[in-house]
Amino acid sequence: MAGSAAETTPDSAERAEAGSETAGELKSLELVRSRRSIREFTGERIPDEHIELILEAARHAPSPENMLMIRFIVIRDDQETKEFLADIAQEMAETAFGGAPFELTSGRNWFISDPYRAAVYARLRDGKLFRYPEKSDAVILVCASETWHDAGYLYPNDLFGSVVSGMAIQNMWLVATELGYGCGYEALVCSDPRHAMLIRDRVGIPPTWTPLTAFCIGVRVSPRALGPSRPPIEGLMYEERWGLPYKRMAFRKKG
Ligand SMILES: Cc1cc2nc3c(=O)[nH]c(=O)nc-3n(C[C@H](O)[C@H](O)[C@H](O)COP(=O)(O)O)c2cc1C
Repeated sequence: MAGSAAETTPDSAERAEAGSETAGELKSLELVRSRRSIREFTGERIPDEHIELILEAARHAPSPENMLMIRFIVIRDDQETKEFLADIAQEMAETAFGGAPFELTSGRNWFISDPYRAAVYARLRDGKLFRYPEKSDAVILVCASETWHDAGYLYPNDLFGSVVSGMAIQNMWLVATELGYGCGYEALVCSDPRHAMLIRDRVGIPPTWTPLTAFCIGVRVSPRALGPSRPPIEGLMYEERWGLPYKRMAFRKKG
């Protein structure tokens, strides 16, 4: 078929033949796997060209009829607003995690070795772990609209704007990862509608647009290889019908 994926990626057949061994060579998969949430930044400035490469990735997000019902407020110089967002995030985290028992969060944070796990837990409870907007270089307030449609047709599917935002954010996250920067998805700032209202007022977001997150990009204090693990493919996928376990190639009978 003209313009098919097979034509645009001439080596795809060879890749398929070689099977899962090629997974290790895929740059895209490597980036997807190495992307992590980073919550500690040095406060250093990122070169403008790098920030623009990251923003460039956002504009390539797919969207219904290419409408891109997403807008981004890129905050770099306004340190007061970064601190304002950090205050909100900390307050919200304290409310959300302040009473979380250590036993519950300890297992989830298996990847943090022992002397540090308790310290991270303390920062989770007092909310300081989430103050990272203040030391990010760029805080991107991602806004979505569920009502802005230039097609003059209101999609019956809910939350398309949020879906598109998610795709744009992931694009930015992967490019930032490749460039060696860290990113954190600070949804806490917009979780409480009262906080969201304060943010709207401060940066002038109109009522038809909803702030979803403060997506933070910065120079990492340290790289992070480990993090919350994911279930295996079988934990998320069914085969052909809901409930039928997906079987990976390694467990299929040959021939
Ligand atoms: C919709 C969404 C909301 C999230 N909210 C927050 C948040 O408010 N604060 C935060 O620090 N991380 C937040 N995260 C990041 C997750 O905690 C993180 O992606 C998850 O624990 C997996 O860790 P990893 O990103 O290092 O793989 C959010 C991620 C998503 C996609």
